[in-house]
Amino acid sequence: MNSQSIGIFDSGIGGLTVANAISGLLPKEHLVYFGDSAHMPYGEKSPELIQEFSTKITKYLIEEKKCKAIVIACNTASAIAYSHLKKSYEGQVPIINVIDPMIELIVASHFKKVGIIATRGTIESNVYQDKLNRRVPNQEYAVLATPLLASMIEENFIHDDISSTVISKYLSEPILDDIDSLVLACTHYPLIADDISEYYQGEVKLLLSGPVVAEKLKMILQKENLLCNERLVENEFIVSDLAKNFEKSAHKFYGTKINLKEVKL
Ligand code: DGL
Repeated sequence: MNSQSIGIFDSGIGGLTVANAISGLLPKEHLVYFGDSAHMPYGEKSPELIQEFSTKITKYLIEEKKCKAIVIACNTASAIAYSHLKKSYEGQVPIINVIDPMIELIVASHFKKVGIIATRGTIESNVYQDKLNRRVPNQEYAVLATPLLASMIEENFIHDDISSTVISKYLSEPILDDIDSLVLACTHYPLIADDISEYYQGEVKLLLSGPVVAEKLKMILQKENLLCNERLVENEFIVSDLAKNFEKSAHKFYGTKINLKEVKL
């Protein structure tokens, strides 16, 4: 069981930011990454569709790829499909979402005002709002849907005129005035973290889910006695539609060549 893989999925390249943090913290684990590029962006889809895609991918990763744990490396899918998936695999395979570890981080910190930017799907699900209201009722926060960002990143508009115009348009929204921290509540956004830092000139703390999710996964694997002590084969990267942009962005982000395989579910 311990040498089995960790399944990680997202709608596209965003989840690679989480996969990257996991492989940094747990280099001996074998990862199977699934980017649902055929259905990207999730942020603009109905909850029913997101639940359907997430269920199919999780089933594939557990039944075909025999994964020992699943990381939903997508805020939108975590917001909409996590409870259902958790219930379906309770006591069989641990399922980890990207939202709860971020909430824990906010609870443990003392921010004045937290900004949260995410896809429309995540913001409209009210998951961050509900969890914050419950866990830290006095925490001031502001949420903003930034629906163009994930597609912009997927299309490789990073650190250029287009990205800086779109980013400043969103971040200058008055609702985000006076924040001292900003949750990048979409796993695509760490790819533009430098542009966002530049906008704020380093004065706002950016909160990324990759590192906290990797820590949470490590803790769960340790607790369940599932840690692997030797990775025997290369990590696997699968997409549901072999798009050139994915390959280009994935290489750029990972720094090494990633061999992509297409699997239609
Ligand atoms: N990366 C995904 C997230 O964390 C969503 C991007 C999308 O497909 O809209 O929400």
